[in-house]
Amino acid sequence: MTWEELNFLCLNCTKCQLRKGRHNLVFGAGVRDADVMLVGEGPGETEDREGVPFVGRAGQLLDVMLEIVGLSRDKNCYITNIVKCRPPENRDPTDEEQQACIDWLRQQIELVKPKIIVCLGRIAARELIGKEFKISVSHGGIFDRNDIKYMALYHPSALLRDESKRPETFLDLKKLHRLILDVCPWVLQ
Ligand code: URA
Ligand code: SF4
Repeated sequence: MTWEELNFLCLNCTKCQLRKGRHNLVFGAGVRDADVMLVGEGPGETEDREGVPFVGRAGQLLDVMLEIVGLSRDKNCYITNIVKCRPPENRDPTDEEQQACIDWLRQQIELVKPKIIVCLGRIAARELIGKEFKISVSHGGIFDRNDIKYMALYHPSALLRDESKRPETFLDLKKLHRLILDVCPWVLQ
């Protein structure tokens, strides 16, 4: 499957009810052969309007977080979400919706071939690292799955709601920086 084929199939996907309420598909953005991939939950209002992941308030905070680590979507990472269409009223995507959409993400992962995947928030961590994942306990930890290193961070929306989580996230970002230096140091050169 090529990127163009995948994008076309995803654009025309009607596998779940989220298709009905969305304005734009939010497929993904960034560098298509990046070694670091970030996966959020699903598009919000701004993302749905623009068709681009993480461009609203949470996205602006994510860009600051990426900068701390030496990452940027223009240069060295790829960003997408578990579901590609906006859930109404920004509710969490249901299990059915996540299962309907996950194949698109799996195909994206096959194309990007990342060395490191950063899960943004509980929904992505439970889908990609483990069903019982507790974000408050295991954020910042490193998990091996199929030759890829996974780390989960608090979702930037959670950091906007609760600033007390920010110092821990700063430490997690330092761990992520070290992990990149360990696994794929050329990313930061
Ligand atoms: N929150 C997400 O999880 N993803 C986005 O693209 C924007 C906000
Ligand atoms: Fe298809 Fe995913 Fe959109 Fe559901 S959210 S319609 S599975 S692309």
